[in-house]
Amino acid sequence: MLAITVINERGESNVVRFQRHSYRNLMELIVNELFEEIGDCRGQAWCGTCHVEIVAGQLIDEQTGEEKNTLGHLGNTTSTSRLSCQIMVDELIDGMVFQLLGGC
Ligand code: FES
Repeated sequence: MLAITVINERGESNVVRFQRHSYRNLMELIVNELFEEIGDCRGQAWCGTCHVEIVAGQLIDEQTGEEKNTLGHLGNTTSTSRLSCQIMVDELIDGMVFQLLGGC
């Protein structure tokens, strides 16, 4: 079993266990497991509501052009901002910590 930690916008930390590829992406895992109301564009990298900051760990894959563009329109990005809908749910995120930042 794989696990990540997700800190919500209220500062509450949640450990979420998951199977490899049990969801299409990290946004769907967060919506289904933690009932967070994110993902307005359903994973198209357009809305920015699934914006997360990587607090611990590192992703290997690069941002797509669409992801870069959407993050560029948000006012609260950090150097480790990503769109969770563009992150695969697999062993590469095992042990990572994500902070939900939302799209403002
Ligand atoms: S769900 Fe809309 S940008 Fe990720």
